[in-house]
Amino acid sequence: MCGIVGYTGTKNATPFLIEGLRALEYRGYDSAGIYVAGQGVVRRAGKIDMLAAAVPATFSGTTGIAHTRWATHGPPTETNAHPHQDSSETIWLVHNGIIENHAELRQKLVSEGTSFTSETDTEVLAKLVGSYYLTDTVLEEAVERALVDVRGTYGIAVVSTRESKKIVTARLGSPLLLGMGSDGYYLASDAAPVLPYTRQVIYLDDGELAVLMPDSYAIRSHTLKTVIQKPIQMLDWDAESAKKKGYEHFMLKEIMEIPEVIENTLRGRLLVEEGSATLDGLEKVEQRLKEVERIIVTGCGSAYYAGLVGQELIEEFAGIPVEVEIASELRYRRFTGDPKRTVLIAVSQSGETADTLEALRIAKKNGMLTLGVINVVGSTIARETDATVHNHAGPEIGVASTKAFISQVIVLTLLALKLGRERSLSKKEGLRLVQDLSQLSTHAKTVLQRADAIADVAKKYAHIANALYIGRKYQCPVAYEGALKLKEISYIHAEGYGAGEMKHGPIALIEQDFLTVALAPKDSLYEKTRSNMEEIRARSGSIVAVTTDGNTDITRIADEVLFVPETHEALIPTLTTLPLQLFAYYVAKARGLPIDQPRNLAKAVTVE
Ligand code: M6R
Repeated sequence: MCGIVGYTGTKNATPFLIEGLRALEYRGYDSAGIYVAGQGVVRRAGKIDMLAAAVPATFSGTTGIAHTRWATHGPPTETNAHPHQDSSETIWLVHNGIIENHAELRQKLVSEGTSFTSETDTEVLAKLVGSYYLTDTVLEEAVERALVDVRGTYGIAVVSTRESKKIVTARLGSPLLLGMGSDGYYLASDAAPVLPYTRQVIYLDDGELAVLMPDSYAIRSHTLKTVIQKPIQMLDWDAESAKKKGYEHFMLKEIMEIPEVIENTLRGRLLVEEGSATLDGLEKVEQRLKEVERIIVTGCGSAYYAGLVGQELIEEFAGIPVEVEIASELRYRRFTGDPKRTVLIAVSQSGETADTLEALRIAKKNGMLTLGVINVVGSTIARETDATVHNHAGPEIGVASTKAFISQVIVLTLLALKLGRERSLSKKEGLRLVQDLSQLSTHAKTVLQRADAIADVAKKYAHIANALYIGRKYQCPVAYEGALKLKEISYIHAEGYGAGEMKHGPIALIEQDFLTVALAPKDSLYEKTRSNMEEIRARSGSIVAVTTDGNTDITRIADEVLFVPETHEALIPTLTTLPLQLFAYYVAKARGLPIDQPRNLAKAVTVE
């Protein structure tokens, strides 16, 4: 959610810290702060630009930490911005995550005479570390002792004026990685800031603490008190792929990358001769997977909707019962059934979503096989599942999930195909699906080439206050996803519904000009959805329809029609989602909104 960067080495830390915060700004963006050894601290409410403008040109030093905040405890003010200091004014600390027992710890510290300047749980942690930082103690010992008292999640970086070249960092539930540079060591909560400087990184795991010095680093388990040797990994994302490549917004760039993403997600996974699929990452769980009798898919937001598409596909192709549950609910439900014959699939772009991670951990504790469909390699969920399939969508910076959603749907399609072919799906049907999957990227390109027409329709409806999205079977989750996309970036109230539900309530909303977006490809349920559209038309509602090429019949009922190429009906969600993403994008653009960073949202939701 929030972002952390740090550096200790031989060069001036300030430019990296500021640029690093900019690269992380999508993670949390209501205030920011920087500490540089020998200079002190600058904090500001607002965007990184506000902080950058406040940092004097002379603010130079070789060790420093910085933070960008997404408020959880206390409003986004300068006082609540990180870094926070201990009582002796020796230590500065930045923190991602939530200290659950902060109130209790604060009370104890207050009773011992400590006073606080902010409302944050982070300042409690800073003061706590300070209380253990005695004259004969080194910083890492004080941090370790403080962490014993803490309940909750954290990724922290701590510096001290007494040990001015040292950064101590530790994680439990909030991602952190170390970058091995030629001029020193980098620290970040995400790969983006370190990419311009190094591709060699070490991801810290939960319970680990690292001590960074300009010419050395050491990692140890702060729970087990043992030294840990960890392999250095090479990042394969280059810095350029995290930039906008000339598009006005990351969201548009990421939508336009979708044909390439489809190819990347499919690469090496289609078994053309057998009409099946293979998924790297699942080798070690193949046997257990064969014995599975029930699947639970979980995720949040768009990842959950991708799971709903997966449900239709897996049940249709493989005949395995699938339940899909939002992770924030699943984590509080009682698991039933035989865990040995159940697999939980966690779907997450970031691999760091707190609710999804917790649902996964509970499923594991219950003895289920756990799989991940994850974009970010090395993320916590990817590491904690029994096996993970990576989406290969590349970094997604826009808060709205676009290419990641599509890649999640593709991975779940491949999984359904594989499970299906291992069970009841005929070779003939498998071969047809493989054939149509191979053409999906070209079809996606065709849809995106129609962006201007979609933009024109979007401009026409940019003023609306409400919208309904409807669809059936494969198109029902697409309707949910389309509505989410519109509401999160354009702030227009939008709801997705199974088209058959219209008569059970939502049709009461329909009046002159009320917009319904109807997902109506020429599939096995087209006639049914068309009837729903007729009912809306009869009540003078406006309709934007998404259908398949050649379906001229629909132009009679809808005000506007957006076309996608024809393909196997199980694969159409990938195509019908695209006009909805572009529609939301162009509506938000016409309304002049901050598309990549909508208000109140963050890219990775690492708190409950
Ligand atoms: O990183 P994740 O896929 O776990 O994120 C899940 C949701 O937070 C995410 O899909 C969110 O709903 C997006 N803003 C939707 O566009």
